[in-house]
Amino acid sequence: MSLAEQVQQTLSRPATSDDGVSALIDLVDELCGVYLDETKGYLIESRLAPIVKRLECRDYAELVQRAKGVAGSDVRSEIVDAITTHETLFFRDESPFNALRYKILPDLIEAIESSGRQRRIRIWSAACSTGQEVYSIAMVLHEIAQMLPGWDLQIFGTDVSPASVETARRGWYSNLEVGRGLDDLNKSNYFSHEAAGWQVSQDLQRLARFDVRNLLQPFPEMNLFDIVFCRNVAIYFKPEQRADMFHRIVDTMTPGGWLFVGSAERLSDLGAEFTPETHCNCTVYRPK
Ligand SMILES: C[S@@+](CC[C@H](N)C(=O)[O-])C[C@H]1O[C@@H](n2cnc3c(N)ncnc32)[C@H](O)[C@@H]1O
Repeated sequence: MSLAEQVQQTLSRPATSDDGVSALIDLVDELCGVYLDETKGYLIESRLAPIVKRLECRDYAELVQRAKGVAGSDVRSEIVDAITTHETLFFRDESPFNALRYKILPDLIEAIESSGRQRRIRIWSAACSTGQEVYSIAMVLHEIAQMLPGWDLQIFGTDVSPASVETARRGWYSNLEVGRGLDDLNKSNYFSHEAAGWQVSQDLQRLARFDVRNLLQPFPEMNLFDIVFCRNVAIYFKPEQRADMFHRIVDTMTPGGWLFVGSAERLSDLGAEFTPETHCNCTVYRPK
């Protein structure tokens, strides 16, 4: 039976079937929370069948077996990279970055100054994909940082996809990627032309730190982040995973912190804690 037929057959049967496709669906859910229901057969075929072929596995069952084996971490990373959607761009949706620049950072700096707290700002871009969100935040922060000598500023970018995190860390983007959302001024201020593409400046790279993190697993940080961007990722999760993740994100935030979600995402169903505010045309949440 071909790989495509295996997928079709499994997805048209009850979920209790015991072949490789069911095991693969469970593994993907476990690894990154993407649930491949009957509407997603095309994703298995288009994104995971090439891995089965390249690794010369007999079928999906063998792929799962190899991924679960002691030496399976590369296979697991490859599956996660292939199945997750990494679409992103610089200054995506624009309004969150205006809200950050004109309202949130000024308010936050004033609050820190007046409370006598340590002069430190921590921002988390959870599910940062290939880093454009992190460097967009860094450009805004860098402008303001000129007026904040001695402040400790850092943006933490995380993603479940190791290949995306590696791209983000490297900070090199093609002409096409730089052409999506970056204006000429930011390009000339913060990028240099390198190897037929564009390299992010050290000024921005110094503000950023990256790590591989699965948002469905516990976070070690408590009361650390003043601002969290968690955009365009929860749409892939089941409702209970989404609710649990946002409640755990709140635990990582300082009191009075700010939470950004995607422009089409709303958190009001998660309770009064998630009451929206609008600034510069952008909806944000202040859950503590
Ligand atoms: C569509 S991109 C969004 C990138 C960026 N936040 C933006 O809005 O432009 C979604 C990202 O979520 C990541 N992702 C998916 N499941 C994840 C999980 N369980 N934990 C962490 N990141 C995850 C994917 O690897 C992908 O890079």
